[in-house]
Amino acid sequence: MTVTGAIPPGPVTARPGKALAGDITVPGDKSISHRALMFGALAVGETVIHGLLEGEDVHRTAAAMRALGAEVTRDKDGTWHVRGRGIGGLSEPADVLDMGNSGTSARLLLGILATAPFTTFLTGDASLRRRPMARVATPLERIGARFLARGAADGKLLLPLAITGTADPLPISYTLPVASAQVKSAILLAGLGTPGETTVIEKAPTRDHTELMLRHFGATVTVAKTPDGSAITVVGQPELSGRSVQVPADPSSAAFPLVAALLIPGSRVTVSNVGLNPRRAGLYDTLREMGADVTISRPRTEAGEPVGDITAAASELKGVEVPPERAPSMIDEYPILAVAASFARGDTKMRGLGELRVKESDRLSAIATGLKACGVEVLVDGDDLIVRGKGARAAGLSAGVAPIPTHLDHRIAMSFLVMGLAAQNATVVDDATPIDTSFPGFLALMRGLGADIATS
Ligand code: S3P
Repeated sequence: MTVTGAIPPGPVTARPGKALAGDITVPGDKSISHRALMFGALAVGETVIHGLLEGEDVHRTAAAMRALGAEVTRDKDGTWHVRGRGIGGLSEPADVLDMGNSGTSARLLLGILATAPFTTFLTGDASLRRRPMARVATPLERIGARFLARGAADGKLLLPLAITGTADPLPISYTLPVASAQVKSAILLAGLGTPGETTVIEKAPTRDHTELMLRHFGATVTVAKTPDGSAITVVGQPELSGRSVQVPADPSSAAFPLVAALLIPGSRVTVSNVGLNPRRAGLYDTLREMGADVTISRPRTEAGEPVGDITAAASELKGVEVPPERAPSMIDEYPILAVAASFARGDTKMRGLGELRVKESDRLSAIATGLKACGVEVLVDGDDLIVRGKGARAAGLSAGVAPIPTHLDHRIAMSFLVMGLAAQNATVVDDATPIDTSFPGFLALMRGLGADIATS
């Protein structure tokens, strides 16, 4: 699937240069965009989406919802429309659904398909085919779905897989064994098609876009405190109504130009309309603890989500300890935080990062390999990542050193390009094409701020 202005295959080089300056917006939030398309397909009537992320991952979700019978269209001005089929109204797709690089598409869709009484085949790219699906299949099997998957002998359940939804779903109460909004969401979506109440218990708060947006579409979702966390309950078989959704800019994407501004002397960058859901904002808390000049202006609420404008100005950073309980609120931001930590004075200890091993790549290993290649001292100790900042510009890649491997991981690619903009030497990443999955226009936007990034 190609996106206009897509990044060509091959190495991409980021060179240190002048300060970055400008006021920008970044594309729409990926998590919210997937959900808007999916929930629109499950609703009756029309859903109108403004600010949808037009990245490859979200295009995969749009294509999947079309294949399942929803009508999904785009106006010339970038407004998207979904005419839903109602809960229980999806139809068997005629072909395999290819979810590309997108774990959120695959896992949330499995939740929807768990109560769709037909068989659907799902696959993905080389990265997604390595990612564990057992975490969603286990609870969905308890509801009544059946899976036939690769890797089952090792208990892994990998794509490609076939799911057959059940016509007689059973409501469950399920305690999440891992802090994962994708697993939570898959169960809640299966709960929509199940009579009675389906409950997910989460010990650590993960992003709650599913809960907020399901309510916006008319579902009853309640949250109750439990002794060790919270119980989220959805009442099954509601009629969802098509709604208007305004997607805020993605805080996970905003992180790249903002951290670049912190690290490059003399820089100042503002990103407007950024989603500031507290369950996503851990990076900004951490950067402030590190001494970063990060300010939020015009805080407001749009379509149930807090948003604001974030400004970052070049700052001297110090190392901090990032506690494990903060991980869910910044789970996608550790690659760029690790780059920031390389420039800080002293150690940054990031605790409890086991989940990074099962992202688009094994991010713990990809971060450590990339930082070492850039002359940064880094240690992976169990699930902890420790970066030894020297309080100065990190070296970057020396001449003749091989490009940094990105392993089909957009955030590894963007993080190490930011490293090259701020380091003493340039950096080269082996492949930047995955950036289009979440941040179409990244290179042009960074160049517009003054960054020297070249495709060869
Ligand atoms: C997401 C949840 C997170 C995150 C991913 C998007 C979501 O994954 O890493 O990029 O939209 O629910 P996990 O649920 O696996 O932590």
